[in-house]
Amino acid sequence: MMKRAAAIAAVLVLGVSGAATAATQRPADDHQSGRQTADRSLIVGGTLAATSEAPWAVALITSFQPSTQVCGGALVRPNKVITAAHCMTEPPSSFAVVQGRSDLAMDGGRVAAVSRVWIHPGYNTQHRRNDFAVLTLARPITGVPLIRLETNPKADRRGVVPTVYGWGETQDTGPSDTFHKLRVPVLGDAACLANKGYATGGYAASTNICAGYLDGGRDACQGDSGGPLVLNGRLLGTVSWGRGCAEPGYPGVYAEIASAARTLQAEIKR
Ligand code: ARG
Repeated sequence: MMKRAAAIAAVLVLGVSGAATAATQRPADDHQSGRQTADRSLIVGGTLAATSEAPWAVALITSFQPSTQVCGGALVRPNKVITAAHCMTEPPSSFAVVQGRSDLAMDGGRVAAVSRVWIHPGYNTQHRRNDFAVLTLARPITGVPLIRLETNPKADRRGVVPTVYGWGETQDTGPSDTFHKLRVPVLGDAACLANKGYATGGYAASTNICAGYLDGGRDACQGDSGGPLVLNGRLLGTVSWGRGCAEPGYPGVYAEIASAARTLQAEIKR
Protein backbone atom coordinates (compact mmCIF):
# COMPACT_ATOMS: atom_id res chain seq x y z
CA MET A 1 0.00 0.00 0.00
CA MET A 2 1.24 3.43 -0.81
CA LYS A 3 1.45 5.96 1.92
CA ARG A 4 0.95 9.62 1.24
CA ALA A 5 3.85 11.48 2.73
CA ALA A 6 2.99 13.62 5.70
CA ALA A 7 5.07 16.45 4.31
CA ILE A 8 3.07 16.44 1.14
CA ALA A 9 -0.20 16.29 3.05
CA ALA A 10 0.88 19.32 5.02
CA VAL A 11 1.45 21.26 1.84
CA LEU A 12 -1.83 20.10 0.38
CA VAL A 13 -3.94 21.17 3.30
CA LEU A 14 -3.11 24.74 2.24
CA GLY A 15 -3.61 26.99 5.16
CA VAL A 16 -7.00 28.59 5.27
CA SER A 17 -6.33 29.35 8.92
CA GLY A 18 -7.57 26.80 11.36
CA ALA A 19 -7.65 24.15 8.70
CA ALA A 20 -7.70 20.74 10.25
CA THR A 21 -5.66 18.10 8.51
CA ALA A 22 -7.42 15.14 7.03
CA ALA A 23 -5.60 12.95 9.50
CA THR A 24 -7.22 14.66 12.46
CA GLN A 25 -10.72 14.10 11.15
CA ARG A 26 -10.91 10.42 11.76
CA PRO A 27 -13.67 8.46 13.44
CA ALA A 28 -13.31 10.33 16.74
CA ASP A 29 -14.64 13.42 15.00
CA ASP A 30 -17.44 11.41 13.47
CA HIS A 31 -18.67 10.44 16.89
CA GLN A 32 -18.62 14.03 18.06
CA SER A 33 -20.75 15.12 15.15
CA GLY A 34 -23.04 12.16 15.57
CA ARG A 35 -22.24 10.87 12.13
CA GLN A 36 -21.51 7.24 11.52
CA THR A 37 -18.55 6.46 9.33
CA ALA A 38 -20.54 3.77 7.58
CA ASP A 39 -23.23 6.25 6.55
CA ARG A 40 -20.81 8.44 4.69
CA SER A 41 -20.11 7.68 1.15
CA LEU A 42 -16.39 8.33 -0.15
CA ILE A 43 -13.30 10.39 -2.31
CA VAL A 44 -14.81 11.35 1.04
CA GLY A 45 -18.28 9.85 0.73
CA GLY A 46 -18.01 8.76 -2.90
CA THR A 47 -18.23 5.39 -4.60
CA LEU A 48 -15.71 3.18 -6.32
CA ALA A 49 -15.23 4.01 -9.98
CA ALA A 50 -13.91 1.95 -12.88
CA THR A 51 -11.06 3.67 -14.70
CA SER A 52 -12.82 2.68 -17.94
CA GLU A 53 -15.57 5.21 -17.18
CA ALA A 54 -12.98 7.96 -16.83
CA PRO A 55 -10.03 6.78 -18.93
CA TRP A 56 -8.59 10.29 -19.14
CA ALA A 57 -8.19 10.46 -15.35
CA VAL A 58 -4.61 10.00 -14.16
CA ALA A 59 -2.97 9.69 -10.78
CA LEU A 60 0.09 11.83 -10.23
CA ILE A 61 2.72 9.86 -8.33
CA THR A 62 6.29 10.43 -7.30
CA SER A 63 8.68 8.77 -9.72
CA PHE A 64 11.07 7.41 -7.10
CA GLN A 65 10.45 4.17 -5.19
CA PRO A 66 8.36 3.58 -3.25
CA SER A 67 6.14 5.94 -5.15
CA THR A 68 3.52 8.02 -3.42
CA GLN A 69 0.25 9.21 -4.85
CA VAL A 70 0.19 13.00 -4.58
CA CYS A 71 -2.53 14.38 -6.83
CA GLY A 72 -4.86 13.73 -9.73
CA GLY A 73 -4.92 15.00 -13.28
CA ALA A 74 -6.66 14.77 -16.65
CA LEU A 75 -5.23 13.62 -19.97
CA VAL A 76 -6.03 16.31 -22.54
CA ARG A 77 -3.54 15.28 -25.23
CA PRO A 78 -1.65 11.98 -25.49
CA ASN A 79 1.34 13.78 -23.94
CA LYS A 80 -0.36 16.52 -21.90
CA VAL A 81 -1.99 16.40 -18.49
CA ILE A 82 -3.78 19.19 -16.64
CA THR A 83 -3.30 19.13 -12.89
CA ALA A 84 -3.12 21.69 -10.05
CA ALA A 85 -0.25 24.18 -9.80
CA HIS A 86 -0.08 23.58 -6.05
CA CYS A 87 0.82 19.93 -6.68
CA MET A 88 4.09 21.00 -8.31
CA THR A 89 6.20 21.18 -5.20
CA GLU A 90 9.07 19.19 -6.71
CA PRO A 91 11.00 19.29 -10.00
CA PRO A 92 9.33 17.71 -13.07
CA SER A 93 11.52 14.61 -12.94
CA SER A 94 10.07 13.78 -9.51
CA PHE A 95 6.71 12.94 -11.04
CA ALA A 96 5.03 10.32 -13.19
CA VAL A 97 1.40 9.76 -14.11
CA VAL A 98 -0.55 6.50 -14.01
CA GLN A 99 -3.55 5.94 -16.26
CA GLY A 100 -6.02 3.08 -16.10
CA ARG A 101 -5.07 1.67 -12.70
CA SER A 102 -7.93 1.59 -10.23
CA ASP A 103 -6.01 0.34 -7.20
CA LEU A 104 -2.62 2.06 -7.10
CA ALA A 105 -1.19 -0.72 -4.93
CA MET A 106 -1.59 -3.08 -7.91
CA ASP A 107 0.13 -3.20 -11.29
CA GLY A 108 -1.53 -2.43 -14.55
CA GLY A 109 -2.48 0.61 -16.53
CA ARG A 110 0.02 2.89 -18.20
CA VAL A 111 2.79 4.88 -16.56
CA ALA A 112 4.54 7.88 -18.09
CA ALA A 113 7.26 10.08 -16.68
CA VAL A 114 6.80 13.85 -16.57
CA SER A 115 9.40 15.71 -18.62
CA ARG A 116 8.23 19.29 -18.32
CA VAL A 117 5.95 21.37 -16.10
CA TRP A 118 4.19 24.63 -16.95
CA ILE A 119 2.52 26.59 -14.16
CA HIS A 120 -0.22 29.10 -14.95
CA PRO A 121 1.44 32.54 -14.66
CA GLY A 122 -1.58 33.85 -12.73
CA TYR A 123 -1.17 31.30 -9.93
CA ASN A 124 0.22 32.23 -6.56
CA THR A 125 0.11 30.54 -3.19
CA GLN A 126 -1.63 33.47 -1.48
CA HIS A 127 -4.92 33.57 -3.35
CA ARG A 128 -4.51 30.18 -5.07
CA ARG A 129 -6.39 31.35 -8.17
CA ASN A 130 -5.52 29.81 -11.54
CA ASP A 131 -4.40 26.67 -9.77
CA PHE A 132 -3.39 24.98 -13.02
CA ALA A 133 -0.30 23.17 -14.24
CA VAL A 134 0.20 21.48 -17.60
CA LEU A 135 2.51 18.48 -17.57
CA THR A 136 4.31 17.23 -20.66
CA LEU A 137 4.84 13.47 -20.63
CA ALA A 138 8.13 11.94 -21.70
CA ARG A 139 6.17 9.37 -23.72
CA PRO A 140 2.61 9.83 -24.97
CA ILE A 141 -0.20 7.68 -23.59
CA THR A 142 -1.80 6.63 -26.86
CA GLY A 143 -5.11 4.93 -27.59
CA VAL A 144 -6.81 6.46 -24.57
CA PRO A 145 -9.81 8.80 -24.88
CA LEU A 146 -8.89 12.38 -24.02
CA ILE A 147 -11.11 14.88 -22.26
CA ARG A 148 -12.06 18.19 -23.84
CA LEU A 149 -11.91 21.46 -21.95
CA GLU A 150 -15.10 23.32 -21.11
CA THR A 151 -14.80 26.77 -22.68
CA ASN A 152 -18.15 28.27 -21.69
CA PRO A 153 -17.72 30.39 -18.54
CA LYS A 154 -21.42 29.92 -17.79
CA ALA A 155 -21.22 26.12 -17.73
CA ASP A 156 -20.69 26.18 -13.95
CA ARG A 157 -24.14 27.48 -13.19
CA ARG A 158 -25.71 26.68 -9.87
CA GLY A 159 -27.60 23.40 -9.78
CA VAL A 160 -25.61 21.42 -12.34
CA VAL A 161 -24.12 18.23 -10.94
CA PRO A 162 -20.65 17.37 -12.22
CA THR A 163 -18.65 14.38 -11.04
CA VAL A 164 -15.26 14.56 -9.37
CA TYR A 165 -12.80 11.66 -9.69
CA GLY A 166 -9.74 10.83 -7.67
CA TRP A 167 -7.48 8.49 -5.74
CA GLY A 168 -7.29 10.78 -2.70
CA GLU A 169 -8.07 10.57 0.97
CA THR A 170 -11.37 8.91 1.89
CA GLN A 171 -11.33 9.53 5.66
CA ASP A 172 -12.06 5.84 6.07
CA THR A 173 -15.19 6.02 3.93
CA GLY A 174 -13.49 3.68 1.45
CA PRO A 175 -10.22 2.01 0.55
CA SER A 176 -7.29 4.38 0.08
CA ASP A 177 -5.37 4.88 -3.16
CA THR A 178 -8.37 3.51 -5.04
CA PHE A 179 -10.23 5.31 -7.78
CA HIS A 180 -13.40 6.98 -6.53
CA LYS A 181 -16.04 9.30 -7.90
CA LEU A 182 -18.58 11.61 -6.36
CA ARG A 183 -21.35 13.74 -7.80
CA VAL A 184 -21.00 17.25 -6.41
CA PRO A 185 -23.71 19.86 -7.05
CA VAL A 186 -22.44 23.28 -8.11
CA LEU A 187 -23.57 25.54 -5.27
CA GLY A 188 -22.87 28.88 -6.93
CA ASP A 189 -20.15 31.39 -6.08
CA ALA A 190 -22.29 33.09 -3.41
CA ALA A 191 -22.27 29.92 -1.32
CA CYS A 192 -18.47 29.95 -1.04
CA LEU A 193 -18.20 33.74 -0.80
CA ALA A 194 -20.66 33.67 2.11
CA ASN A 195 -18.00 31.79 4.03
CA LYS A 196 -15.64 34.37 5.51
CA GLY A 197 -12.66 32.06 5.48
CA TYR A 198 -13.22 31.25 1.84
CA ALA A 199 -13.73 34.88 0.82
CA THR A 200 -10.53 35.96 2.55
CA GLY A 201 -8.83 32.74 1.47
CA GLY A 202 -8.93 33.83 -2.15
CA TYR A 203 -12.14 32.38 -3.57
CA ALA A 204 -12.97 34.30 -6.77
CA ALA A 205 -16.23 33.99 -8.69
CA SER A 206 -14.42 34.55 -11.97
CA THR A 207 -11.95 31.69 -11.60
CA ASN A 208 -13.38 29.25 -9.06
CA ILE A 209 -16.28 26.82 -8.80
CA CYS A 210 -17.96 26.12 -5.47
CA ALA A 211 -19.28 22.56 -5.37
CA GLY A 212 -20.28 19.92 -2.87
CA TYR A 213 -22.55 19.64 0.15
CA LEU A 214 -23.09 22.37 2.75
CA ASP A 215 -24.15 19.72 5.24
CA GLY A 216 -20.77 18.00 4.84
CA GLY A 217 -19.98 14.31 4.61
CA ARG A 218 -19.08 14.20 0.92
CA ASP A 219 -16.22 16.04 -0.74
CA ALA A 220 -12.95 15.80 -2.59
CA CYS A 221 -9.97 15.60 -0.23
CA GLN A 222 -6.17 15.63 0.00
CA GLY A 223 -4.69 13.70 -2.89
CA ASP A 224 -7.59 14.54 -5.19
CA SER A 225 -6.12 17.92 -6.10
CA GLY A 226 -5.63 18.56 -9.76
CA GLY A 227 -8.12 15.81 -10.52
CA PRO A 228 -11.02 16.22 -12.91
CA LEU A 229 -14.44 17.72 -12.22
CA VAL A 230 -16.46 16.62 -15.23
CA LEU A 231 -19.79 17.75 -16.68
CA ASN A 232 -21.29 16.52 -19.96
CA GLY A 233 -18.03 14.87 -20.95
CA ARG A 234 -16.00 18.04 -20.55
CA LEU A 235 -13.41 19.12 -18.03
CA LEU A 236 -15.30 21.75 -16.03
CA GLY A 237 -12.79 22.20 -13.24
CA THR A 238 -9.95 20.72 -11.26
CA VAL A 239 -9.81 20.01 -7.53
CA SER A 240 -8.10 22.94 -5.83
CA TRP A 241 -8.74 23.48 -2.10
CA GLY A 242 -11.10 23.43 0.84
CA ARG A 243 -10.98 23.71 4.60
CA GLY A 244 -10.42 20.18 5.76
CA CYS A 245 -12.63 17.80 3.80
CA ALA A 246 -16.37 17.22 3.87
CA GLU A 247 -16.87 19.58 6.79
CA PRO A 248 -20.30 21.16 7.10
CA GLY A 249 -20.23 24.71 5.72
CA TYR A 250 -16.97 24.16 3.82
CA PRO A 251 -17.63 22.81 0.33
CA GLY A 252 -14.97 22.06 -2.25
CA VAL A 253 -13.27 24.81 -4.22
CA TYR A 254 -12.39 23.96 -7.81
CA ALA A 255 -10.34 25.87 -10.38
CA GLU A 256 -12.62 26.85 -13.27
CA ILE A 257 -11.26 25.58 -16.60
CA ALA A 258 -13.35 27.91 -18.81
CA SER A 259 -11.80 30.98 -17.20
CA ALA A 260 -8.34 29.84 -18.26
CA ALA A 261 -9.27 27.82 -21.35
CA ARG A 262 -7.49 30.00 -23.92
CA THR A 263 -4.27 30.05 -21.95
CA LEU A 264 -4.49 26.33 -21.27
CA GLN A 265 -5.26 25.46 -24.90
CA ALA A 266 -2.27 27.45 -26.10
CA GLU A 267 -0.02 25.61 -23.69
CA ILE A 268 -1.51 22.21 -24.49
CA LYS A 269 -0.90 22.66 -28.22
CA ARG A 270 2.76 23.48 -27.81
N1 ARG B 1 -5.62 20.63 -1.71
C1 ARG B 1 -6.00 19.27 -1.70
C2 ARG B 1 -5.01 18.43 -2.48
O1 ARG B 1 -3.95 18.90 -2.77
C3 ARG B 1 -7.38 19.02 -2.17
C4 ARG B 1 -8.34 19.93 -1.57
C5 ARG B 1 -9.70 19.61 -1.87
N2 ARG B 1 -10.35 19.74 -0.63
C6 ARG B 1 -11.65 19.74 -0.48
N3 ARG B 1 -12.09 19.81 0.71
N4 ARG B 1 -12.44 19.67 -1.52
O2 ARG B 1 -5.21 17.27 -2.73
